[in-house]
Amino acid sequence: MSAAGSEWWREAVIYQIYPRSFADASGDGVGDLAGALRRIDDLADLGIDAVWFSPFMRSPQHDAGYDVADYRDIDPLFGTLADFDAFLAAAHARGIRVIVDLVPNHSSVEHAWFREALAAAPGSPERDRYLFQDGRGAHGELPPNNWESEFGGSAWERIEEPDGTPGQWYLHLFDSSQPDFNWRNPVVREEFLSILRFWLDRGVDGFRVDVAHGLIKKEGMADHQKPENAGPMGSRDDLSPYRGQPEVHEIYREWHDLLATYDGDRVLCAEAWLPTSDKTALWVRSGEMHQAFNFAYLMTAWDPAALREVITDSLRAYPAVGAPATWVLSNHDVIRHATRLMMPPDQDDGIGPRSPFIPAEGSGLARARAATTIMLALPGSAYLYQGEELGLPEVVDIPDADRQDPTFARTAGRRYGRDGCRVPIPWEADAPACGFSASGESWLPQPASWAAHARDAERADPRSTLNLYRRLLAERREHRLGRSVLVWVDDMGDDVLAFHNRDVTVVANFGAEPLPLPSGTVIAASGPLVDHHLPTDTAAWIDTGGVPIGPETGGVPIVRADLEDLLEHYGDGAA
Ligand code: GLC
Repeated sequence: MSAAGSEWWREAVIYQIYPRSFADASGDGVGDLAGALRRIDDLADLGIDAVWFSPFMRSPQHDAGYDVADYRDIDPLFGTLADFDAFLAAAHARGIRVIVDLVPNHSSVEHAWFREALAAAPGSPERDRYLFQDGRGAHGELPPNNWESEFGGSAWERIEEPDGTPGQWYLHLFDSSQPDFNWRNPVVREEFLSILRFWLDRGVDGFRVDVAHGLIKKEGMADHQKPENAGPMGSRDDLSPYRGQPEVHEIYREWHDLLATYDGDRVLCAEAWLPTSDKTALWVRSGEMHQAFNFAYLMTAWDPAALREVITDSLRAYPAVGAPATWVLSNHDVIRHATRLMMPPDQDDGIGPRSPFIPAEGSGLARARAATTIMLALPGSAYLYQGEELGLPEVVDIPDADRQDPTFARTAGRRYGRDGCRVPIPWEADAPACGFSASGESWLPQPASWAAHARDAERADPRSTLNLYRRLLAERREHRLGRSVLVWVDDMGDDVLAFHNRDVTVVANFGAEPLPLPSGTVIAASGPLVDHHLPTDTAAWIDTGGVPIGPETGGVPIVRADLEDLLEHYGDGAA
């Protein structure tokens, strides 16, 4: 583990464990903490710096654990607090840090506070921890405003009062099983400070903060018309009354100060879907969070000009406020990048058997490998999603009856939702459920093709995606690419993305013709090279030994001295 005080998160590669789909020790078909512990050496072997666990707290699982009933306990589905402590200790012993997912925007309807709110009267302190309002219309039969749930339908649900009469409405920006807290109430703020302390005292290294843009709702909660093309989770809705309200930042300043009282560089990472890098950077100003997911990067299509623009923009916007840029290609909410990069951008509805365009299975793997080869050479911190290191595609053909994402039911199947990226991952080619669960159970059906992606098969194949990731991660660490600066290489043509990072030159070919590689030693390549040429949809890292790559290859000369100056300017953690 890198030393405390090193601000490890500035260059960390953080691996997302989606616990229900990672590894199942109990045999019930749902992954658990004991299963994750059994596989921990595989994570160490991969070469990551930290893991982020999607939620495992007590929950009725109406939104796969993002509906929390008790923030201080583990759901029996996933094990016990002792199982968590065992995982944490084993991870730390291997130099791997552990970040947990905190869901502060809403609880589950089964949270004790929400039950108390239902049993109490309108206007009571119990109701005031959530966002209850009287309905509109003569008898309060209409929702208080026109806000829509991110999962479809109205964002309001009407309750029955304790005396059996139709009553008030509560706000739920997500599923009706996820009532939003009232973050203007100091009692809610105190409670979450206490929850943070609970996990910090257990030794966690930080928090990924769910819906970090949404905690505060605009005063008055007036009607709002989402723009037609609002983007994933309304991310391009600039006037949203619940996205990035200014008072939300006070909350994170308080959390930052709390974390700072603990040793070991604990970290807050914002899940904030906002329209631009500049807006997202507001969450990582000094004294607030440490990192924010770079969804603008994730949503960029496979296009060199667009990628260059978003990378440049990110490397400007985040360092401008003293934060590292971060990079991410896949997570549990989006189509896996081995499929998505073959599609037009903005695939917010998911993909399923009736989708108008379905990329052929395996067709996106070359792009996915090239995309990761680019990403892991970028300065800053990177997030990986379990299974992408195996080259897993999105599972498209999940039967309707098996789909569990509330998005599918709330839109009557119009939007497929996110189950296709959540299918339990394969470990052993010849075992039941591909080694996910010894019983052969799996909460979502695994496709037959999973065996070919199993970790044991890929570990044995030098050309596998797993071994590509292992190599990239080892070389990234060796060359310290995470803490550095990027210098673009121009003039290699419109179909090429190329840049220097320290003594590594990265070249990616988006065009149809094979591209001659600059001279130097090839450190890693996302696919086979042909006569020192880079085929289409392939990227490579070349060790130029700090030597200018020379105009004959189309690259911009760069001298070592320039690089040293730049590193000094941007702060080199090695110093
Ligand atoms: C975040 C999570 C997503 C969840 C939603 C509601 O966007 O990543 O999975 O459904 O918040 O908690």
